[in-house]
Amino acid sequence: MNSASCRIISIDGPAGSGKSTIAKQLAQKLGFIHADSGAIYRTLTRALMDQLGPGQDPEDFGKRIGNLSESDIQNLKIEIGIENGIQVNRINGNDAGESIRTPEVTSRIKFIADTMLCREEVNRLLRQFSLKTDLVADGRDIGSVVFPETPYKFFLEASIEIRAERRKKDFIKQGNEIPLAEIIKDIQKRDEEDRNRPVGALICPKDAILIDTSTMSTEVVLGCLMSEMQLQF
Ligand code: CDP
Repeated sequence: MNSASCRIISIDGPAGSGKSTIAKQLAQKLGFIHADSGAIYRTLTRALMDQLGPGQDPEDFGKRIGNLSESDIQNLKIEIGIENGIQVNRINGNDAGESIRTPEVTSRIKFIADTMLCREEVNRLLRQFSLKTDLVADGRDIGSVVFPETPYKFFLEASIEIRAERRKKDFIKQGNEIPLAEIIKDIQKRDEEDRNRPVGALICPKDAILIDTSTMSTEVVLGCLMSEMQLQF
């Protein structure tokens, strides 16, 4: 397939709206690759923590991020590849694996997501990825900033209570019992950060199809997206 024919489906939405589950399943059904932009933000955060040190606390790390130059970021040698139909995130040629999902990375990612130079690097990696293959890309600003020209755009929403319930179930699967009120507070904080960041803020693009998934099962949401895609392909 040449680059001109690669198709991109964007799925944006807030934390817990179900976008990554749906993006993964939609990609599987269509034979596309699932591009997880959050994982690229995590990989960049991990690479910068390895390079600069994690700092005494997240704020300390954040201060160092403010002093980065474009070449500091280019020198990190991050690559996004595909292995067995799945996105792999490499730092210096090595698969970053689960090292991008530690609580230390999660507490520092905000500084990366708020910095223009870092967002531009993630966007560049995503656009490069889209030259290799058809993608279902999920994130916060995929349809609005990264691939504004794609005709296939979705935005998933759900009430905060439902999103928190979903997160709680995920935590239970991982063996963590966290009170619902604590999860709601965390989601509210992340919504606030995602919607108000100075660059790449979470918005529903004007030309996106908005789906409120609050009362819908994954199968129903997927069916909705598939019928929209069948109309368009
Ligand atoms: O599961 P969730 O989408 O909340 O997290 P993630 O996909 O692992 O993304 C980690 C963080 O990166 C999110 O909290 C977002 O603030 C940020 N992000 C972003 O700013 N822009 C994107 N396109 C994707 C993620």
